[in-house]
Amino acid sequence: MHADRRSFLATLLLSAFTLLSSSATPAGAQASPSTGALTQPTLLVDIDHRSALPLDGDWHYIVDPYQGGIYDFHHHIKPHGIFENLEAPATPNGLVEYDFAKSPTIKVPGDWNTQQKSLYYYEGLLWYQRNFDYTPKPGTRAFFHIGAANYRSNLFVNGKHICDHEGGFTPFDCEITAVLHPGRNFAVIAVDNTRIADGVPTLQTDWWNYGGLTRDVSVVTVPTSFVDDYELHLSRADHKTIEGYVHLVDAAPGAKVQVRIPELNLSTEAAVDAAGKAAITLTPSALTLWAPGHPKLYEVEIATSASSATQDQLTDEIGLRTVEVQGTKILLNGEPIFLHGIAIHAEAPKRTGRAVSEQDINTLLDWAQELGANFVRLAHYPHDQRMTRETDRRGILVWSEIPDYWALHFDDPAVKAKSEQQLGEMIRRDRDKASVILWSVANETPNNPVRTEYLTSMADQARLLDPTRLVSAALLVRGEGNTKIVDDPLGKALDVIGTNEYIGWYEKTPGDIANTTWSIAYDKPLIMTEFGGGAKAGLHGSEHTRWTEEYQANLYRNQIVMLNKIPQLRGISPWILMDFRSPVRLLPGVQDDFNRKGLISDQGQKKQAFFTLQKAYRENTLGKAE
Ligand code: GCU
Repeated sequence: MHADRRSFLATLLLSAFTLLSSSATPAGAQASPSTGALTQPTLLVDIDHRSALPLDGDWHYIVDPYQGGIYDFHHHIKPHGIFENLEAPATPNGLVEYDFAKSPTIKVPGDWNTQQKSLYYYEGLLWYQRNFDYTPKPGTRAFFHIGAANYRSNLFVNGKHICDHEGGFTPFDCEITAVLHPGRNFAVIAVDNTRIADGVPTLQTDWWNYGGLTRDVSVVTVPTSFVDDYELHLSRADHKTIEGYVHLVDAAPGAKVQVRIPELNLSTEAAVDAAGKAAITLTPSALTLWAPGHPKLYEVEIATSASSATQDQLTDEIGLRTVEVQGTKILLNGEPIFLHGIAIHAEAPKRTGRAVSEQDINTLLDWAQELGANFVRLAHYPHDQRMTRETDRRGILVWSEIPDYWALHFDDPAVKAKSEQQLGEMIRRDRDKASVILWSVANETPNNPVRTEYLTSMADQARLLDPTRLVSAALLVRGEGNTKIVDDPLGKALDVIGTNEYIGWYEKTPGDIANTTWSIAYDKPLIMTEFGGGAKAGLHGSEHTRWTEEYQANLYRNQIVMLNKIPQLRGISPWILMDFRSPVRLLPGVQDDFNRKGLISDQGQKKQAFFTLQKAYRENTLGKAE
């Protein structure tokens, strides 16, 4: 290949791959040599109810800290990269310097840090590869589904660059119809969990930066015209009417779509408009509203009215309920409610690492329910869809959050675009989950005008994307003497105020907690989204000695006294259900890379404070709904 052609290709490739190296996302998808335009990732709603070719299991992997799979020694993009998955050369002097088939394997879904000792601290580029058999069917199209890939990822199928994605906790789907062929196909996915200053989250987090394909991967086949998004909710206005929409991709205006709820003997047909959207209204004569205690889910059937060959059919299970605020009250189905909650990180019980399985999620929610919780704060990023499906089934209310965490680069529009993308993906994936009642746009961010403007806009966008739920954020509070003051200007933009405090741990002693008073500038419901202290399970001693279970339990007893004195308190989610891995928790023999504020250790040992809080929840001596 002569020089100028090579340099022309190199520049073309350079634009396509910048995503992998620097944080600057190239403006818009650049043409790549292999497939022409890159596909813009989309998100197919309710995808876990679609039939799919699962690709979970063992994937070959190649660790590539120097990104040699892409760059040559002058940091030029190599025309032939690892994404081509070339086999060992047939000719004696052929030169291929990698071989997936001879490379080790790793489990998907899962983080790489807890699967391979050598990858425990690894932050960088890692290549995944696996083969899969596929038979394209006429009148259908195929999407490659990735439940989550932390943090930046590039998808290649059969050596063709398909799409790129940034953000470690939300799903994306990329169309691969054009590159598939009957029989053996292969996927290569570059995943890079390098932390970047202008990332979301940014460089510092109090959770382990688990890298990899951390959620399900599959190939989903749909008809040429199909349902990619829909939304159904109970009207806040009359609590009787079910309203919403269905969106079809590549449907002619006027194309019909049916929505049926057989158990309610409800069915309707509507035509899509020029944008592919059909408005839906259903009026049930009787309805069991979804709520903790009776988490009623109805099967919903959505179908396009095309001929059977090309008809798209989708089913889902949804609960119907309303949630709103009235002054300082949170109303669920029109009734005031108090949120007895607990915060949860997506850390797998016992085996540790990213929580990925039904078992991981069931164990976490079993413990939350054993505690007496009717509410969980899923921190600080959208958790696996299995979690919100299960909270739907169990009747546990959910706070879901995007990782606008600590000191993001709030002055950078490119960072704002990343937050907006993640917010859009979070809401689109879980809009059909009745259990999710709160969207949180941030946690513990610095109180300054640039940040407040950024997050106010995020709160407004959340309301635009979903006017049926409440918007919140976990705010820092300031103190004067024994008074905690909640007057962060971001509070104006929120429906519900979340506040984090660590009295008795990062400041003062447990004995000081009960005398603390609160001055709150907003006539809105308040949730104490974090409080707590560390304890090493099994470490016992005086209640004044840090890290003992007695200290943590005493801290909780005093917190409960203080919390009961806050008139507009409408919920709590103490920090945290279970100890979780964190790179900033380094005290040997106590923390050993774990944040020990759990009420339960990562190995399942319940600490005294678990029972302190359980008692308050069971006897309903903490908090008032009005
Ligand atoms: C913060 C933060 C958490 C962190 C906790 C702690 O409030 O929101 O992510 O883990 O404090 O310090 O334990």
